[in-house]
Amino acid sequence: MTMTAEKRVKTEEDITDEVLRRFDVTKDARLREIMQSLVKHLHAFAREVQLTDKEWFAGIEFLTAVGQQCTDNRQEFILLSDTLGLSILVDKINHQIPGSATETTVLGPFYRPGSQELPPGGNMAEIDAKGTPLLITGRVTDVAGQPIAGAVLDCWQATSEGFYDSQLGDGEALGMRGVYRTDADGRYLVRTTRPKWYPVPTDGPVGAMLRATDRHPYRPGHVHFMITAPGYHPLVTHIFDKSGEYLDSDTVFAVKDSLKVDFVERSTQEALGARAGITPPYFTAEFDFTLSPA
Ligand code: BEZ
Ligand code: FE
Repeated sequence: MTMTAEKRVKTEEDITDEVLRRFDVTKDARLREIMQSLVKHLHAFAREVQLTDKEWFAGIEFLTAVGQQCTDNRQEFILLSDTLGLSILVDKINHQIPGSATETTVLGPFYRPGSQELPPGGNMAEIDAKGTPLLITGRVTDVAGQPIAGAVLDCWQATSEGFYDSQLGDGEALGMRGVYRTDADGRYLVRTTRPKWYPVPTDGPVGAMLRATDRHPYRPGHVHFMITAPGYHPLVTHIFDKSGEYLDSDTVFAVKDSLKVDFVERSTQEALGARAGITPPYFTAEFDFTLSPA
């Protein structure tokens, strides 16, 4: 048998095995495990769909465009991970929390550090003059129900018209964000505006992917929270408006039943509104956060 004839009997599996063997020399055991598993699944995917040359190149062009779309204010790769359900899967794998702790969900691409600290009831939605006020209140406790005083709640959300600060103007100014602290009883009071469903950014390659696959780009109305306190796992989560649209088809798969909250319309004044210095109509929502020990 000639050399040429030998090469021709190299199978698809031979190719995969050879690539896998190339990583046998990798000293970092975790990196070796990840790279070999990645190669195994990537090759299996190409075989399963019988990927054509043209489709392979379309994939290369797509990933190139995703990278080119990224800036300091725009993370198209996170958006891709979110819309493919990878972010929520990784979140699930990494946050196997005690049953009573608040469920986590995706961070999303719009978190920005450096929000101003506000007193209880301080308005984090000053730029959203058209929005209906929403007061969110409750307690932050440990898994035994003991209050956590001085817990920090970093909150952010889109305007009532569905835009994050980084999508407004030149994108530089911070807005629709605030940092609150719990009092001695673990209580907090956030003042914002009622969030509405909104589309994830669709002007880039991820938007093109959603259109090409006939998927809608919408997320149900929600407020983001990142809650930290010494001795506890940081909690990254949202609360969702229970009566809102798209709860069953969030384009980033982040809705959990335990995070759906009644946003109650108030047409007459009550204690919370008086405390925050606002007059009806407004909405209130109550949610207790439970942190797990670090
Ligand atoms: C968000 O809610 O901010 C978000 C999360 C994932 C993808 C896009 C937006
Ligand atoms: Fe959001």
